Amino acid sequence: MSEKEKVALRYDRWTRFYDLVDNFPLVSRPQRGWKEAAVDALELQGHERVLDIGTGSGQILPWIAVRLRDGEVIGTDISKGMIRRASQRINREGLGDRARALYDDIEGSAFPDDHFDRIIATFTFTTIPDPVRAAEECARILKPGGCMVVLDTGKPRGRLSQPLFVPMMLTAKLFGRTHMDRDIVRLLSEDFSIHDCGSNFLGMVYLLKCTTG
Ligand SMILES: C[S@@+](CC[C@H](N)C(=O)[O-])C[C@H]1O[C@@H](n2cnc3c(N)ncnc32)[C@H](O)[C@@H]1O
Repeated sequence: MSEKEKVALRYDRWTRFYDLVDNFPLVSRPQRGWKEAAVDALELQGHERVLDIGTGSGQILPWIAVRLRDGEVIGTDISKGMIRRASQRINREGLGDRARALYDDIEGSAFPDDHFDRIIATFTFTTIPDPVRAAEECARILKPGGCMVVLDTGKPRGRLSQPLFVPMMLTAKLFGRTHMDRDIVRLLSEDFSIHDCGSNFLGMVYLLKCTTG
């Protein structure tokens, strides 16, 4: 089984529990705040075509959809279970005219060049098996002048947080096939100019705004 099939299977299996963990009080409040800041960073005017890569259960799709007057948000994933869950969320919230969830592998996206005004990825780049290829694809499908917002986890700079980082990184690898030890900033720098919008949680969660050209 390829690494990608393993990731898809892992998130298929997690589908039922994902929102439960996300809604667990200790996790949900900070996570929600970080994700809301990421959606704010998109600076939507209301007409944009937005892509949420690795949307998971689609938590942020309604937050984006309500900011769009005549735009559209598409959440994509390689886990069919997650896509089903995200679609249910869209239907429940009555946002089917502005939001969709569908299968798309960002390592070889089916979307044409220069297609999206905005891309957002929350906790996705550390999970994608080939993040370099994914970054190239994001640069390809993003319109010139568009921007990509990335919220993710990474190695903290401060030595004080290192003892906390190691067990968290190992747990994330084991349960989420998530690689917190990836240098996402460095790999995104190949295709994007990066503006660091700050970090949280002892420097282990960071927000980036990426532009092309
Ligand atoms: C840690 S979850 C994050 C979900 C959601 N963005 C959130 O913030 O809750 C990462 C998601 O990325 C998806 N994913 C991994 N590799 C992918 C790829 N190549 N293309 C699209 N989605 C992918 C996984 O299936 C999973 O649903």
